[in-house]
Amino acid sequence: MEFQYLTLEDFDLRDRAVLLRLDINAPLDPSSNQILDDGRIKAARPTLDALADARVAILSHQSRPGRGDFTSMRQHAEALQRTCTQRVTFIDDVMGPAARQAVKELTRGEILVLDNVRFCAEEMLEDKGEKLAKTNLVARLAPLFDLYVNDAFATAHRPQASLVGFPEVLPAAAGRLMEKELSAIERLMVDPARPCTYVLGGAKVEDKVPVIENILATRKADHVLVGGNVAKVFLQARDTKLGPQDEENLGDVTDEVLKANRILLKYRGRVILPLDFGTLKNDKRVDTEVKNLSRTGSALDIGPKTVRKFRELINESKTVVASGPMGVFEEDRFESGTRAVLESMASANAFTVVGGGHMAGYAGILGISDQLSHVSTAGGAMLSMLAGEELPAITALVAAAKRQKRKPSREF
Ligand code: 3PG
Ligand code: MG
Repeated sequence: MEFQYLTLEDFDLRDRAVLLRLDINAPLDPSSNQILDDGRIKAARPTLDALADARVAILSHQSRPGRGDFTSMRQHAEALQRTCTQRVTFIDDVMGPAARQAVKELTRGEILVLDNVRFCAEEMLEDKGEKLAKTNLVARLAPLFDLYVNDAFATAHRPQASLVGFPEVLPAAAGRLMEKELSAIERLMVDPARPCTYVLGGAKVEDKVPVIENILATRKADHVLVGGNVAKVFLQARDTKLGPQDEENLGDVTDEVLKANRILLKYRGRVILPLDFGTLKNDKRVDTEVKNLSRTGSALDIGPKTVRKFRELINESKTVVASGPMGVFEEDRFESGTRAVLESMASANAFTVVGGGHMAGYAGILGISDQLSHVSTAGGAMLSMLAGEELPAITALVAAAKRQKRKPSREF
């Protein structure tokens, strides 16, 4: 699996008008709407540095329509200004006359942040690139640019106009972050160092089960350690009775339980389930063996025996991938399982990759991000790749590279 896309090295960027798609979608404080984590904004720096002599317009989204954090990109632009050396301006328009005029007026070494691309209803359509290339968004903006650069790995699983439409009509390259993210995943997908262990948890089960199925079927993982709701679904598949609160909170997971059951039967001994949990009883943490779960409150963390077992397996591994916390790590009394996983990864002599906002954010809080081989800016996009799915934005970059190579005289 080698991605045949073009990169910034393939182009002369001096004084070129570049449309840069970033994913600087950030968690916002629900009461003040202030950015809580600027990790994705800082991660744009290498590409912005590489574009220091270009005229750059940035396109990104923040959340999606209908959500409380669906805001303008103004404060993202301010945060970008603190991150990079170029002068950054913001315009509260995406593709209207004001935005287009501001793009035309860009001078070398300047950055213009356009407003939230999802303010355009067309961006929420999901379709093939050739169709989305005909949207007003692409038709109005593309003629103003020489090059389209995609550095939005975290949104690469969305077949939307800003990701698959522009590369149909403009020369297109992957940005530095995109390259870094893809090369880390490539190392997981092509002959990972063994033993290779995945640690999967979190609340969303439906996006983890396909990953487990794929990495076991394609022999990319030797062991999968499960925590959070993922563990609860696998326990149900093994006929372990959960506490009444947990059963209620999980909702209808019939499909996932059936899939988990199939996985357990087909890949015996490969999925490692928790032995115990930190549970909530009379407002206190009580560590409870799995067989006693039905008689206790919610299971909100993996327990100490499980931590010991997970630590051991992580320490013996040469590749470790983690996505999704082991429990409600936001609460001090239930954070030890998630911390143990991250700390063992940090000290393991292995290639270690952490993905998903929660785990990546907590690694930052613990101050151990630098001790991990790769902390992804993505959640869903990384899981899609690990589940063996094609990412439409990457496919679009590869197709654009083929087109570019066929051109008799390259514009660049
Ligand atoms: C994310 O944070 O999940 C990405 O920015 C993609 O956003 P989406 O899930 O709303 O498409
Ligand atoms: Mg998402």
